[in-house]
Amino acid sequence: MKKLIIQSVLLSLIAISCLDTSKKELLQSQMPSEIDEESLYRPNYHFTPKVGWMNDPNGMFYYNGYYHLFFQHYPDGNKWGPMHWGHAITTDLVHWKEMPIALYPDEKGYIFSGSTVIDFENKSGLGKDGQTPIVAFFTYHNPKLEKTESTELQTQGMAYSVDEGITWTKFENNPVVNNPGIRDFRDPKVSWDEASDQFVMTLAAGQKIMFYGSKNLKEWSFLSDFGDGVGNHGGVWECPDLFPIKVEGTEDTKYVLLVSINPGGPNGGSATQYFIGDFVGGKFIIDAKLAGKLPSDHNYWVDFGKDNYAGVTWSNASLKDGAKLFIGWMSNWQYANEVPTQKWRSASTIPRELRLIDLGDDYRLTFQPTKNIKEFYAAKLKKEVLKVDEKAVKVFDSKNIPLTSTKLSFTLKEAKNSSFITELRNEVGDTLKFGFDHLNQTFFIDRSLAGKTEFSNEFSSKKSIAPRISNNEDLKVTALLDKTSLELFYDDGTTVMTEIFFLNQPFSELWMKSKKGQINLNSIEVHELKIN
Ligand code: FRU
Repeated sequence: MKKLIIQSVLLSLIAISCLDTSKKELLQSQMPSEIDEESLYRPNYHFTPKVGWMNDPNGMFYYNGYYHLFFQHYPDGNKWGPMHWGHAITTDLVHWKEMPIALYPDEKGYIFSGSTVIDFENKSGLGKDGQTPIVAFFTYHNPKLEKTESTELQTQGMAYSVDEGITWTKFENNPVVNNPGIRDFRDPKVSWDEASDQFVMTLAAGQKIMFYGSKNLKEWSFLSDFGDGVGNHGGVWECPDLFPIKVEGTEDTKYVLLVSINPGGPNGGSATQYFIGDFVGGKFIIDAKLAGKLPSDHNYWVDFGKDNYAGVTWSNASLKDGAKLFIGWMSNWQYANEVPTQKWRSASTIPRELRLIDLGDDYRLTFQPTKNIKEFYAAKLKKEVLKVDEKAVKVFDSKNIPLTSTKLSFTLKEAKNSSFITELRNEVGDTLKFGFDHLNQTFFIDRSLAGKTEFSNEFSSKKSIAPRISNNEDLKVTALLDKTSLELFYDDGTTVMTEIFFLNQPFSELWMKSKKGQINLNSIEVHELKIN
């Protein structure tokens, strides 16, 4: 093997020496960093575009065995630019195949975020000869009008596919929804609403949500708006989602309204808040259990970490128990354009199962990683009980299980009196810490010493903090690690924290300690996720 590597290095050196000087310099400057970047930072099981910029997930739908993901994409640069819809598919939510670009910008503007709906009954008439049209809604963002005072810069466009989402035709009478005089007017999420017997479009408009209704997807009329005086208003509202969902363990159904906001997140920058209620007569009404609980500093957040934004749910993909499938963009507008990768920028979160639980006097969303990852469990380590105090102990290292594609879970006994701190370390001193502080009943992530941080002042100047929502006696912890991300699901996903990091070399050890006194960690399980 060594011989082979030496041979190939020699060959490439000979090849370089035959090139003219300028090309040589270019190649030499690219080679080592590109190799490092791929091996150090390209995630093992999170979606990234092969090249170029990515932000929000868009228009996800499930059809005929394939989960489709579209995404905000600028293929010609590694910073945000003229937006396209990139496209990727998967059959298992773990292996992704990037497809040709689905939607290109045109004379009406860039193609901003939006959604797709499968028009099973061909109510739009866009399907010919029995084809089922898949209809996409997106925001046209006109870069010329952006420079003026005009409020016409954002309108809603439509496109459709009659080959199961592979190729797309823009509708000839775009836009389908004109701008009512609001500069930020975007991110249409369209779904069929059984209860009101119509398609509903949920739109972000300034700092509120506007609902529109339609019978045929082509003509839309305004229904109502929502958002005055409720929830966080620290920034512009973006990328909403509205859907009914079964309350776990009951026959009741409630509506969930997700609203991304930038800035205004609980730990700075971008984040996604949620509201639970009913959608009656075209109006969203907050449930009585949440009344008064949603001032601007509320704690109804999809994720308290800094890196889960603009997430929405898949169309046509409910699980057997009624759970919905969700995916987010794993970055934050505070530094997304600056993170230290060159060839591509950003990854998506792991697809997550979203459920609604009733806590008696409250409703909460829970998020858990797709169960499909179990199919990829390889090397495994199990410990029934581990007693730990303030002196850190090494739980395992990369000789047993790699720390670049890993699922860790354990239970902290008696969370009222016990704190824990987990430290991920490598040989060059990079350290990422996360844990739980029982005195404040809060979780934290501290990435200030986890490799490269200097590209942005906002990246690690403060630890991220999240409240514990559950009152359970024991605290269940699930952590997913990839090369550049940590996703933490506490109390079966009642509190979630997602953050990215950029190490100088991969983590090689996982250590545990308590903040004070002895703690009991039970049912420790570590799995390598073997994803080829
Ligand atoms: C959210 C967002 C959307 C917009 C898109 C543009 O991250 O600002 O509101 O449609 O990104 O890329």
